[in-house]
Amino acid sequence: MSDFLLEPDVIFLNHGSFGACPALVFDKYQHWHRQLERQPVRFLQRELPGLLADARRQLADYLGARSTEVTFVANPTFAANTIARCLPLASGDEVLISDQEYGACRFAFQFAAQQKGFRIVEQSIPLPVETDEAIVEAFWQGVTKNTKLIFISHITSTTALTLPVAKICQRAREAGILTMIDGAHAPGQIDMNLEEIGADFYTATCHKWMCAPKGSGMFYVREDRQHLIDPLVVGWGWGPEKTFHRENDFISNHEWLGTYDPAAYLTVPTAIDWHKTYFTQEVRQRSCDLARMAVDLSAQIDGIERVHPDAFFRQMGLIDITAHQVEDHVQLKTHLYDAYKIEVPVIRWKDRTLIRVSSHAYTTEQHIHTFVQALKETFST
Ligand SMILES: Cc1ncc(COP(=O)(O)O)c(C=O)c1O
Repeated sequence: MSDFLLEPDVIFLNHGSFGACPALVFDKYQHWHRQLERQPVRFLQRELPGLLADARRQLADYLGARSTEVTFVANPTFAANTIARCLPLASGDEVLISDQEYGACRFAFQFAAQQKGFRIVEQSIPLPVETDEAIVEAFWQGVTKNTKLIFISHITSTTALTLPVAKICQRAREAGILTMIDGAHAPGQIDMNLEEIGADFYTATCHKWMCAPKGSGMFYVREDRQHLIDPLVVGWGWGPEKTFHRENDFISNHEWLGTYDPAAYLTVPTAIDWHKTYFTQEVRQRSCDLARMAVDLSAQIDGIERVHPDAFFRQMGLIDITAHQVEDHVQLKTHLYDAYKIEVPVIRWKDRTLIRVSSHAYTTEQHIHTFVQALKETFST
């Protein structure tokens, strides 16, 4: 699809890491940069508050939340740090995570645990998964009377698995446990309704599957939980002397963390429009089908296995190449790029070696065939 700025000779099967931006979205991003530089004070002091409030409203609508519950942040790493470090957690408390959480967010919790004395319990969700109910049951084995918070991905990074987060949040709520969902990969891949998901805290990227510019993340905190969260970075929006006032303390605390470049946030409505106009149900279904095709065809090669049933993934398919005993997974990734111009992540997770294949509007059947052929040639020698 020529809409994207991607180099045409690269087979880009790694949308999952950082996303990719359509040209018309990127044009709007540059428009905001130019607007800012024409008159920085007018733009940042007088025009930005209204523009940002409008962008936030549109994002909240898209995600099924109230605009007073959603704030822009640079990325989920920031939001995970905010929860890990600012939620009142202390010695004796436990935070339950799965064994498939994203490294940087896990580190944020480990760091805060060292500082504050709470404990992290890592519960395995055995693969392959079979049903949502079995996943919830397996994960729930990690809950104890000390569990104060559950931190879990909506779609996992290393294993590309869609987890039944609404069911987990519901059970947690009944048990009086707070939930923080890492939805880095969800908006854009999944139709979202944060109200229905029922998490206390949720973070996502707009730059991955929503195709907004890099550094556009979002942080959701339910209205009745906002009093629990101190700001990670204190700026003009905090305290009795604050000069930066927004709808409530949560928004005031997060919307101005010192001088920054708001162009990516302001471009989010354009990315939403792009999705509504171009990434129709048909295009999305085609992308899901291509990810499935990559998994199905790869799994016909000796020593390669699929990992998840179809119902548990969408635009990111996962294959397991452990049987090929790849010694250096980074070297294999480099080989696929150097020899075939295929950009795809090769992942070491526990004792397994996995390849995660992303598909988006620009992915073609030919890309998938070239990928499968590359695997055949690589593993036949
Ligand atoms: C599941 C998951 N969580 C969090 C992140 C962190 O995203 P960022 O680097 O934008 O903070 C990623 C990034 O790939 C991810 O896959």
